[in-house]
Amino acid sequence: TICAMQGREIFDSRGNPTLEVDVLLGDGTWGRAAVPSGVSTGEHEAVELRDGGKRLGGKGVLQAVRHVNETIAEALKGHSPFDQAAVDQVMIDLDGTPNKSRLGANTILGVSMAVCRAAAQSQRMPLYRYLGGVDSELPLPFFNIINGGKHAKTGIAIQEFMITPIGAVHFREAMERVVETYHMLGSLLSARGLATSVGDEGGFAPQLNSSEEAVQLMVEAIQQAGYEPGKDIAIALDPAASEFYRDGLYHFEGNQWTGSEMSDYYEQLIEKYPVISIEDGMSEKDESGWQAMTQRLGQRVQLVGDDIFVTNPSIFREGIRKRIGNSILIKPNQIGTVSQSMEAIKIARQAGYTTMISHRSGDTEDTFIADFATGMSAGQIKTGAVARTEGVAKYNQFLRIEEELSKYARMASFVYPGQ
Ligand code: PGA
Ligand code: ZN
Repeated sequence: TICAMQGREIFDSRGNPTLEVDVLLGDGTWGRAAVPSGVSTGEHEAVELRDGGKRLGGKGVLQAVRHVNETIAEALKGHSPFDQAAVDQVMIDLDGTPNKSRLGANTILGVSMAVCRAAAQSQRMPLYRYLGGVDSELPLPFFNIINGGKHAKTGIAIQEFMITPIGAVHFREAMERVVETYHMLGSLLSARGLATSVGDEGGFAPQLNSSEEAVQLMVEAIQQAGYEPGKDIAIALDPAASEFYRDGLYHFEGNQWTGSEMSDYYEQLIEKYPVISIEDGMSEKDESGWQAMTQRLGQRVQLVGDDIFVTNPSIFREGIRKRIGNSILIKPNQIGTVSQSMEAIKIARQAGYTTMISHRSGDTEDTFIADFATGMSAGQIKTGAVARTEGVAKYNQFLRIEEELSKYARMASFVYPGQ
């Protein structure tokens, strides 16, 4: 049973404070977890508790630490760590708000993940196996190699330009192909006198004239690295369109477009380039734009909902009913518990939606989502580039998992939603 816990304030990859939690069980085993934090957040995400005031720019999490050490520790003492849903429900009830604003979604998630880890430890099992048994499948990784939008102040509207090694069979092979492509892209950029500094998620952040130029550079890098675009390595985008949607229009690189003009743009991109997935192509405030885009492009490209679904089972159910998108991004900190994240995955499966597990742009050395994605056989994951350790730590964890599963290791292939 759960016998004690300790919260602490640590720092994330952007140098902002965040919460880490240790949970100790009666049998002497324990689990630790740290909470990530985003900047291009969805409006309906569960609420992060921050201290406010002057210290650390108001971003301190000492109140969250206190809630862990006092209120939550008391309420969970004596509970079984193996009933994740019951543990999470105790915290949801204790919080009592619909968006976890009293105790904080960061507070609750830190405990939820640490309990899950402790439970796996107590069973002497790796976390992925505790979650998924021996049948776990590694996800297909999506690597963010050029950063724009809110993750790099370079003037390109699209936030994430990702590559995914769809032709690879093993994770190690996937990783090698991407590393080669990433370094090739770096050389192409420096040959053109462009910056090779990186953005918040480890992708390069060069000053380019347009998002399309970024896509062209990626295609060139894939080819020059010796791979075939669309066959060995495909492209995925996260425009994070909520960030450039104002007054009913998409303010996209000098244009002011309606939803339908925005869809025209995506359509020509998927016709010209091997783009297989677009996340948040429309704003969270533009449901009709989302519906029209899904109807028009949903058979040809994966349309991932991030800000629009915020990993929230009830919002997601409603979105499925409205025929919005065909895939969901799963960010545990958007909803605040492990079991609700699992529920969102289950709902997706039933509706024929694909699932992509995701880190946040402010993240830590915690590799929880790597095991989570594997154990849940989620199919896909994005966790940054192959630079910046908070992202690479997760990719490295897959290499360990693959080694441990040895000949039983399988990596998911790209499957179009509904198929
Ligand atoms: P965030 O961005 O972590 O900064 O919110 C990630 C995303 O939009 O997918
Ligand atoms: Zn996103």
